[in-house]
Amino acid sequence: MFRTNYCEINLEAIRNNVRVMKSFSGDARFLAVVKANAYGHGAVPVARAALEAGADWLAVAIPEEGIELRESGIDVPILILGGTEPGATMAIIENDLTQVVFDDLMVDAFAAAAARCRGNAKLQIGLDTGMCRIGVRTPEEAARLAAKIDATPGLLLTGCFTHMATADEEDPTGTHQQIARFKAMCEAIDAVYGKPLIHHAANTASIFCWPEIHADMVRGGIALYGYPPVPGVSGLMHAMRWITRGVLVKTIEAGERVSYGGLFEAKKPTRVMTVPVGYADGYDRGLSLKGSVLVRGRRAPILGRVCMDQIMVDVSEIPEASVGDEVVLMGQQGDEEISAEEIAGLLGTISYEVLCSPSARVPRVYINQEQKETV
Ligand SMILES: Cc1ncc(COP(=O)(O)O)c(C=O)c1O
Repeated sequence: MFRTNYCEINLEAIRNNVRVMKSFSGDARFLAVVKANAYGHGAVPVARAALEAGADWLAVAIPEEGIELRESGIDVPILILGGTEPGATMAIIENDLTQVVFDDLMVDAFAAAAARCRGNAKLQIGLDTGMCRIGVRTPEEAARLAAKIDATPGLLLTGCFTHMATADEEDPTGTHQQIARFKAMCEAIDAVYGKPLIHHAANTASIFCWPEIHADMVRGGIALYGYPPVPGVSGLMHAMRWITRGVLVKTIEAGERVSYGGLFEAKKPTRVMTVPVGYADGYDRGLSLKGSVLVRGRRAPILGRVCMDQIMVDVSEIPEASVGDEVVLMGQQGDEEISAEEIAGLLGTISYEVLCSPSARVPRVYINQEQKETV
């Protein structure tokens, strides 16, 4: 690693955050949502830390993410939350992954694959209770699919689940509706299936706000990384810091313009630090002229446009700032912090998207007390 630009991931924060969510979840099993490379934090180390802190299940979005976890030796149940191409069925069975299904096409594809490899496909029925994304939409359809899975050799139903669309909002109407539909669909499935299933619905917001839908398992995502989607939750720790180092400090004259398009013009002599991060690293170009970074525990505003690989920041108010200083793009430095939520606010998005944004070019460095390891 030659270029100093990396995300520091604190695995102790992940463990802490699992413990916080579990303290809200009673006897429900805990599923750690590690899709999208664990929201940008690195799937395998985060999954391991979550399991150490008591997670029972893991969830991913696509088969490739589940296979990555299996190849690292992780052997707990892994649920694929998104729809899958028929071509992936054999790999899903061979890697002992659990797939959400919601129509006959998928069930038939798994039945054929299970027969071909003489294995068992583990399935869960997705229930669309109000999000209009994936899932069967009525109790009758849910029961029909459950009965079909039950009657088909090589298929094993292990659960059914829905996803909450507005559990983080003040208006409870949509959530009440979803809970009622969820219960009706679960009852319809249980009536035809007969064997115990894991029913689950709760995302992070529901873990904190809707104990009535904790059911048999909760699925913790964003709070695993330290960001609660609802106010009033304490004890979580932000797991990611994005760090680099200044490569040049100089003073420009009044009238000089900075970066592409010359959008920033210095009104007075200005000390400018060049920082090696850009939109190719996932540092959003929307932060041009808006964002800031931390140098020596103080804020340095971005001057002009974010380039592909570099930005320029104003260190006029930080006279000690020098080449080689640590520059924090996201996270804490001294008493200051630039959170993913703050960046999301500047960009008109949510912390989820900001955490997922550092690109593959940015290594993840894991800290775990004194131990540091890079993958
Ligand atoms: C099906 C499903 N369950 C759980 C989650 C986790 O949500 P959150 O990060 O809000 O906890 C997601 C995330 O998008 C999801 O799609």
